[in-house]
Amino acid sequence: MSTKADTVAKKGYDVEEIRAQFPILKELVHGKPLVYFDNAATSQKPRRVIKAESAYYATINANVHRGVHTLSTKATEAQEAARETIRKHINAKHAHEVIFTSGTTASMNLAASSLGQLLLKKGDEVLISGMEHHANIVPWQLACERHGAKLKVIPITDSGEWDLARFRVSDIFGEKTRILAISHVSNTLGTINPVKELIAKAKKRGIITVVDGAQAIAHLDVDVQDLGCDLYAFSGHKAYGPTGTGVLYGREELLERMPPWQGGGEMIDVVTFEKTTYAKLPFKFEAGTPHIAGIIGLGEAFRWMEDYDKAAMAAHEHMLLEHATKELLSIDGLRIIGTAKEKVGVISFVIDGVHHYDLGTLLDQQGIAVRTGHHCTQPLMERFGVSGTTRASFACFNTIAEVDAMVAGVKKGVKMLR
Ligand code: ALA
Repeated sequence: MSTKADTVAKKGYDVEEIRAQFPILKELVHGKPLVYFDNAATSQKPRRVIKAESAYYATINANVHRGVHTLSTKATEAQEAARETIRKHINAKHAHEVIFTSGTTASMNLAASSLGQLLLKKGDEVLISGMEHHANIVPWQLACERHGAKLKVIPITDSGEWDLARFRVSDIFGEKTRILAISHVSNTLGTINPVKELIAKAKKRGIITVVDGAQAIAHLDVDVQDLGCDLYAFSGHKAYGPTGTGVLYGREELLERMPPWQGGGEMIDVVTFEKTTYAKLPFKFEAGTPHIAGIIGLGEAFRWMEDYDKAAMAAHEHMLLEHATKELLSIDGLRIIGTAKEKVGVISFVIDGVHHYDLGTLLDQQGIAVRTGHHCTQPLMERFGVSGTTRASFACFNTIAEVDAMVAGVKKGVKMLR
């Protein structure tokens, strides 16, 4: 499902060669070349992924795991090949530890609902951090309300890091802490969190660990066994894959114990009106017809990423981040929100006297796509005393020239808006 030109052996970083694979980058917006800096919201898709998804519909469209006919077999094989690709990419032990969902939000709701039922009792605690996306806050609030548990929050420093120095481990983890749910990378600040270290401490206390990897999966090497987490969630669409796809990785022993989240076809073994028994992993957690085309596209996105050296991609994005940071800071009254030592290519900023929404609109008129607002992290906005920020988030296909265009656009915007 790939063309010769698309299949590039791991090699040195050639951003133009990468850009040539993203059809959307040739689009004009308001008559200007598109500068796409909203990759943390959703990344663009290489041609290979688009082709893989449409090839499913054009040639093997059928439901999976249901028919004996040829198309159903081919669709099933293509979907399960994607599962294996993802297993390898995140270094899960077994393919059945990779559960397909519609995205990180669904993965976190599955985790919170099922773990809540399995683990939480009155007075128990769930620990999250102050930089979480709403998708790693609200599902836990719902679970806590349902089971009489409490949500506790790790505070955030001024630089946008977990404030672990001020707290002893025994203060962070109480006697009643049952679940730790934390983001690997902050979508708003770009902070790369020391998840492995905190997971190790939690594990010693028998606490179940859940990682929101939505912003990490396309930018860091994610090895779930090395991290030692119990569950790891991410979306396909932020990793060059289709929207409506996601994964919840889970350690086999835990998944076996967790009750199903949604009921329906595919997730059952035997159904009677008196009692239903459930299918084995991963199907116990995959009720209904999955997003087959999307999952096939997701597998292709991961195969595409694997053609490249992820460290080289990360280094390229880091170079863009450093350049953007230096240039933006030359603008009078501009403040970067999120100055952690370890960051991916995400830069959030506010400017005195300039509303982020107005700035985002002016940038759009110049063909530059950034996100403005609270980025689904309202408590974090409150922590920093701002109503929202302008956020640029980089991907492997962005260039220094695009960063310069954005900085020029911001300067122009500041002149017009102040
Ligand atoms: N969570 C996505 C973002 O940060 C939508 O923009």
